[in-house]
Amino acid sequence: MTSTRITDVRAWEALDSRGRPTVACAVTLAGGGTGRAVVPSGASTGGHEAVELRDGGDRYQGKGVSRAVANVGAVLAPAVVGHDADDRPAVDAALEATDGDRLLGGVGANAVLAVSLAVTLAAADQAREPLWRRLGGPEPLLPLPMVNIVSGGAHAGGLLDLQDILVVPVGAGSFAEAIEWASRVRAATADALAQRGVGGPLVADEGGLAAALDDNEAALAVVTEGIARAGLDGRVALAVDVAANQLRDGAGYRLRREGRTLDPTAWVDLLDGWCARYPVVSVEDAVAEDDWTAWRAASARWCPTRQVLGDDLFATDGDRLRRGVEAGVANAVLVKPNQAGTVTRAERVVAQARAAGYATVVSARSGDTEDSWLADLAVGWRAGQIKVGSTTRSERTAKWNRLLEIEATAPDARFAGAATLGGRAMTAAG
Ligand code: PGA
Ligand code: ZN
Repeated sequence: MTSTRITDVRAWEALDSRGRPTVACAVTLAGGGTGRAVVPSGASTGGHEAVELRDGGDRYQGKGVSRAVANVGAVLAPAVVGHDADDRPAVDAALEATDGDRLLGGVGANAVLAVSLAVTLAAADQAREPLWRRLGGPEPLLPLPMVNIVSGGAHAGGLLDLQDILVVPVGAGSFAEAIEWASRVRAATADALAQRGVGGPLVADEGGLAAALDDNEAALAVVTEGIARAGLDGRVALAVDVAANQLRDGAGYRLRREGRTLDPTAWVDLLDGWCARYPVVSVEDAVAEDDWTAWRAASARWCPTRQVLGDDLFATDGDRLRRGVEAGVANAVLVKPNQAGTVTRAERVVAQARAAGYATVVSARSGDTEDSWLADLAVGWRAGQIKVGSTTRSERTAKWNRLLEIEATAPDARFAGAATLGGRAMTAAG
């Protein structure tokens, strides 16, 4: 019997970075290899992503995951014990087959992903290889980071309508330099906010700055000012995650902070003006996940010059990505393993995107954990880009620190840089 045979699968209820319960899992192989994972959880979740199982009731305000944990023991462990951890597609297929629904809400996508990840990590441990190498081979590609500076939406109590204003260090020559620049811009932006009298010490869910600015454009302006104060004009650009599902109001988009609702055309026009006035190289979820008409219009306008990134739109799902590619919608895909439910599904979406000429951005969630496997996935899959939040809070720095470690210690490490952005985005960097 092979040493990579799965012999034991255990799960327990742990906490994510927001203090909400999440599923943790440990897997042991016959040869002694072990893997352990604690899964993340989103706040601005889309309607098409794999579904977490939560308990309801009184414990943890209904957000307990004891039923998902029980399903690991009663359903998922029996489905995979005896399988070869090295044959991950077969293990993940066995996990997916335990739920009749593709979104896995019966057994719990949080339970499924915990097992899928722990098996993946155990196989790497058994081989005594770093996970990135196990997934991708000997030449690690360090991703270009997209780093959260100012937060709004569901990540900052609705202080802004836009969910995230991020920076992309497009001129950096290494991952380490990219992180230093992002950190410098965060500090300079905090100073700029303090000078306006709106910058307190408030830190949002992903470690970004939370501030009661007058309107959404002021957030773009203050981060642009932060870039200038940091002396990084032209070398650091902006990215925006609108998370527009959260703004959907009937057929239009509502800016609560500004007291107005716009139809999709006027909304895309407004965003287009912001993109022209500030150095925006990437726009994520500019319109809602099922507003295909507006997605087509926004894509026709922006795809030639900017990265147009689908998060809730694609939900890390191969069928939705295929539809988008056929419709000429977006030119980049956000890849969140817990939207997909298994590591294999997420990996296939990366391959599918690459084949279609779409850029890929591996992403953490707003509720995340101290785990760093996401960094290894981005490197091993050669995704090109990664988004894990800001440069503060340990669940964020765990991923940055892992990438810094890989860059410093892997002999053939190469930094992806700005060439990986979708849509000749550098022309927008100005
Ligand atoms: P979420 O946010 O994890 O709350 O969904 C992240 C994102 O929208 O990219
Ligand atoms: Zn998003």
